[in-house]
Amino acid sequence: MAKFNDLDISRRQECDINTDSLWLINERDKSGKHKNIYHGNFIPQIPNQLIRRYTREFDVILEPFMGSGTTLFECEKLGRKYIGFDINPAMLEYVNGAMSDGKYESNFYINHCNSLDNNQVDENIQNANEKLGTKGVQFVLMHPPYMDIVKFTDDVNDMSKIDNINEFVKKFMEVK
Ligand SMILES: C[S@@+](CC[C@H](N)C(=O)[O-])C[C@H]1O[C@@H](n2cnc3c(N)ncnc32)[C@H](O)[C@@H]1O
Repeated sequence: MAKFNDLDISRRQECDINTDSLWLINERDKSGKHKNIYHGNFIPQIPNQLIRRYTREFDVILEPFMGSGTTLFECEKLGRKYIGFDINPAMLEYVNGAMSDGKYESNFYINHCNSLDNNQVDENIQNANEKLGTKGVQFVLMHPPYMDIVKFTDDVNDMSKIDNINEFVKKFMEVK
């Protein structure tokens, strides 16, 4: 089987990758661009673990629910390319601001997009691949809204507004 990460399996004893179902994380990583400003954001160690376990350097990671950019900041640190969508314009503005130093400009693409709309998703992935000079996506990481707990926007397509479990699951299944 082709290798899908850059880990050295013969040195797994020394490796800090969590492979069990309980991940004990002492303290949230607050270094670099991680500011913990968004309700329901990732603890940065979660995308960090997943990226290192399932992808290689220069792979493309797609995140249909980008939020405040935690995964993108980890991709920058770990040398992965990144495509991110969100329905919340405030987060697009925030993340663009955080990336405005331009150092990673040719390695990420983010846009306002309803990830439940396959046409919008297809068009954005095509634009992203053109910008990044890539052909596809190697890993999809999804951190969807929590059903009916934290309301992110007033947009009718915002999944956080759904208050019915069946409807929520049905919509989530529509994400390509
Ligand atoms: C739990 S948050 C993601 C947090 C992110 N992992 C972070 O670390 O900041 C879920 C995100 O999904 C977005 N969202 C909700 N419905 C969406 C939709 N239909 N298309 C795209 N994004 C959507 C919300 O605006 C919110 O930013």
